[in-house]
Amino acid sequence: MKTRITQLFGIQHPIIQGGMHFVGFAEMAAAVSNAGGLGIITGLTQQTPEALAKEIKRCKDMTDKPIGVNLTFLPGFSNPPYPEYIRAIIEGGVKIVETAGRSPEAYMPALKDAGIKVIHKCTSVRHSLKAERIGCDAVSVDGFECGGHPGEDDIPNMILLPAAAEKLKIPFVASGGMADGRSLVAALALGAEGMNMGTRFIATKEAPVHENVKQALVAASELDTRLIMRPLRNTERVLKNAAVDKIVEIERERGASTTIDDIKELVGGVYPKIMREGTMDAGAWSCGMVAGLIHDIPTCKELIDRIMDEAHMLIRKRLEGFLAA
Ligand SMILES: Cc1cc2nc3c(=O)[nH]c(=O)nc-3n(C[C@H](O)[C@H](O)[C@H](O)COP(=O)(O)O)c2cc1C
Repeated sequence: MKTRITQLFGIQHPIIQGGMHFVGFAEMAAAVSNAGGLGIITGLTQQTPEALAKEIKRCKDMTDKPIGVNLTFLPGFSNPPYPEYIRAIIEGGVKIVETAGRSPEAYMPALKDAGIKVIHKCTSVRHSLKAERIGCDAVSVDGFECGGHPGEDDIPNMILLPAAAEKLKIPFVASGGMADGRSLVAALALGAEGMNMGTRFIATKEAPVHENVKQALVAASELDTRLIMRPLRNTERVLKNAAVDKIVEIERERGASTTIDDIKELVGGVYPKIMREGTMDAGAWSCGMVAGLIHDIPTCKELIDRIMDEAHMLIRKRLEGFLAA
């Protein structure tokens, strides 16, 4: 399949694996890229720019296909040395960066001077237009369904994607709730040039996370995510568990006066315990509503091949069939 996204990034299939904290290691990115999609290493999961440089090298030893690095610009309290992370990306020969969180504007000159293509993840049309204005090559339009941070507007992809298509000139992928060939065909119909998946890629053989995490996704339904940190205007969609129940209770009790200190130990530093050790109630971890569409744990290649086969079948048989009838 050829779209503006496959052409922009030099990939076979219009499928991107979004950056994921403590999931987007070299193994994950290489498996997706080797399967013809675009695999992305999560920059800030590496504690230092030097560690990121090593991770990029490890990934490049596993694939000769294009890979990307995610740079998440965190709100407020934490301030990683972004210029040094960017230097590691440039020196590592990575040509694609997925930015997320705050606007990447301050870092665009450095990225563009190095010939890097930038895809910014946005949860609204206005942020997508800003990304276009500051020179991003593409955007990942992240609907309310998504795992992670859906923003504060709560617009699902059925509305957000066509609204973005009406305004944007640069190409965009649909992100949030994407799982299979049906998602891809729907995304293309709504104006996107491909799709970005997070949660679905965690339930794959190569995802370097504890088996308990994969099984939790297979067991979960579309009813099992919760929104937390809304009072902090840093809303996150997470999988329901004992820790999340506690957070929801605290937020309900304290309302608008909730502070990060009230929930800190349930959200801070919990990813290694969950992703590595499989301690599923250790804290809150990002997960999309799409968990309800995840029923197995294929390899990345099986998953991507199946998506592309299904998309072809849907377009050629089901959709064409309606016209023929
Ligand atoms: C466990 C997990 C961790 C994530 N961590 C990050 C992150 O560090 N930075 C980021 O930009 N997005 C992060 N995301 C969001 C994904 O890149 C992607 O945008 C999102 O998962 C898409 O929605 P979906 O889960 O419905 O596919 C994370 C998502 C998950 C599920």
